[in-house]
Amino acid sequence: MREILIVAVVFQCLIESKCQILPKNIKKCHYGDSKCIIRSMNDVIKHNPRGIPAIGMKPTDVVDIQDVELWNNDALGGVWFKFRLFNQVNYGFENTTITQIKGFGREPTSTTMEIHGQIPSLIHKGNYVTNGRVWLLELNSTGESYSDFQNFRFSLKLKVITEYRNNTRYLKIYELVPLVNMKRWILWLEDFFTENSDLTIYINRVFNENWLQFYNEMEPTILRAFKDVFTNMIEGIFDKIPYDELFLQSDTETEIEK
Ligand SMILES: *[C@@H]1O[C@H](CO)[C@@H](O)[C@H](O)[C@H]1NC(C)=O
Ligand SMILES: *[C@@H]1O[C@H](CO)[C@@H](O)[C@H](O)[C@H]1NC(C)=O
Ligand SMILES: *[C@@H]1O[C@H](CO)[C@@H](O)[C@H](O)[C@H]1NC(C)=O
Repeated sequence: MREILIVAVVFQCLIESKCQILPKNIKKCHYGDSKCIIRSMNDVIKHNPRGIPAIGMKPTDVVDIQDVELWNNDALGGVWFKFRLFNQVNYGFENTTITQIKGFGREPTSTTMEIHGQIPSLIHKGNYVTNGRVWLLELNSTGESYSDFQNFRFSLKLKVITEYRNNTRYLKIYELVPLVNMKRWILWLEDFFTENSDLTIYINRVFNENWLQFYNEMEPTILRAFKDVFTNMIEGIFDKIPYDELFLQSDTETEIEK
């Protein structure tokens, strides 16, 4: 009796599209089949830079970021300054290749999920405001900031909880911890010293020659920004598509065949 009911419900879903179902061209995999899941994810990313609203997938070709204060030093020696970014946009997420995943099993809450990937070039554009003092120089400027994170690699560790809606499991992210690294960070801050373009060029050169040191100092803030970006990308899909809808349901399939 129970089986018949399940089959009936599944058919109801299929025929009347009452349930949220993945578009047919998205390949479903068995729970935990990493190889298949990676291939399917990469396929979806590659063919849908504008996202798929029906499944909660946001655009990846243009990704907005919330304003951040990257730097707010206490006065130290002759240097202090505040540095804030706004109107920020990222380009290049559409070229993401997922390289490794963990989890995505039948019981997603029992293990940490992981998603690892790489992007050949992640471009970040924004406007900055800075003010402060660098030795004798008064700093008070605003301008455009351009960054290129080359060979950008990321890994995300996710912990999820399940939420039942109409007896269907949905996932909710309750923790997402990103780690990122890159081969090089190229940065250009336009008009850093408004009155002195030589000094602007010089400062930009100093930054680019020492990007890793700057990066290390700013890493906590940068990771918080990436945490928001990745959470926003993933939670939309989890919220829209029942978790089990993402996978092949071999049990019900065989029941239908009978
Ligand atoms: C993404 O890849 C395409 C194809 O290789 C390339 O034309 C485009 O510039 C890349 N996007 C970014 C932001 O690098
Ligand atoms: C920075 O420049 C703006 C606009 O030129 C001015 O309104 C502001 O008072 C200046 N701030 C400081 C700390 O000099
Ligand atoms: C639950 O099912 C009812 C009746 O089919 C439907 O009206 C409602 O929108 C569903 N709720 C959710 C959250 O899917």
